[in-house]
Amino acid sequence: SIPSPPEAPADAASPPAKKAEDEQAMGLKTKADFLFLEELGEGSYSTVYLGSDRNTHTRFAIKVCSKAQIMREKKIQQIFREKECLQKLSRPESYHPFIVRLYCTFQDNESLYFVLSLASRQDLLGVLKKKKKLTVEEARFTTSEIVAALTHIHAHGIIHRDVKPENLLISQSGHIVLSDFGCAKMLEPTTPEPAPPTPAPSSEAPDGPPRTGRRCSFVGTAHYVSPEVLNNKIIHEGVDYWALGCIVFQLLAGDRPFNDVSEYFIFKRITSLRYEFPADFPDANAKSLIESLLLIDPDDRLGTRAKGGFSGFKEHPFFEGVDWKGLPDSVSPLMA
Ligand code: ADE
Repeated sequence: SIPSPPEAPADAASPPAKKAEDEQAMGLKTKADFLFLEELGEGSYSTVYLGSDRNTHTRFAIKVCSKAQIMREKKIQQIFREKECLQKLSRPESYHPFIVRLYCTFQDNESLYFVLSLASRQDLLGVLKKKKKLTVEEARFTTSEIVAALTHIHAHGIIHRDVKPENLLISQSGHIVLSDFGCAKMLEPTTPEPAPPTPAPSSEAPDGPPRTGRRCSFVGTAHYVSPEVLNNKIIHEGVDYWALGCIVFQLLAGDRPFNDVSEYFIFKRITSLRYEFPADFPDANAKSLIESLLLIDPDDRLGTRAKGGFSGFKEHPFFEGVDWKGLPDSVSPLMA
């Protein structure tokens, strides 16, 4: 059984030594192994529950996806993409403390189940709703952790494509947990997935070049979508850095950079790079960071391969003094 004590939540960070045992123990689980407690959230075809392992009392977030709704909404491709990306990122050698971890999956006649690490403090959207904006120190910490998560997934050939405050969960200890890989794109193909358990064939087109991901960006909010997605261009990891630019702006300005009365007008603002810093914007280095992320040409954005990847961030003055390696063990300013 899993050796973690009941009071230790399956919060994002799990000691590396434990992982192999975890994986073995989590190999052949079914619905009956978990107690389903309260509902944590709801999506269009899924509901996330707080779940507890009946044996170990370890707590997880269990995402329950309705097969009927997946079929109805033609989300089969999306579900398998999510599973594939999460599996890749949950392997011991590619695990990251700021990325949601998939412990196991199982199914019954009605549903697919994803047993995920529990991020037990709301999400960044909730934090922003409560605080309106963050202090520069809180924003530096939060942005550093998002950068660490994004550079990690990109190094593993995965683009998230739906980075937004709702998908940035907060762990019990106040650290960022990047979640929801339903729109993610895997760049290099890995070993083929087994055939989907859902019986009928999908009417959705097979996964094409990244430009086919376009619809994904329209599922939720339009505010973080990049100009190249709107212009139906071939995309790369730059889409995630555009979204990061929007988020850093929002953390410090209290509002999203591109906002208007309708999606149409939001998109016009995005494609013409029409945004303004408020007069009281608190930090010149943060402003410079945002300006090096919100650029029309994705190859010009900080963090992209063309701009030196992670080292571009490390050298940026906004991140001066950040102990990147020490982030997971640092005390989060979001806990205050
Ligand atoms: N909602 C969606 N995923 C979650 C997670 N991993 N932890 C807590 N709430 C969630």
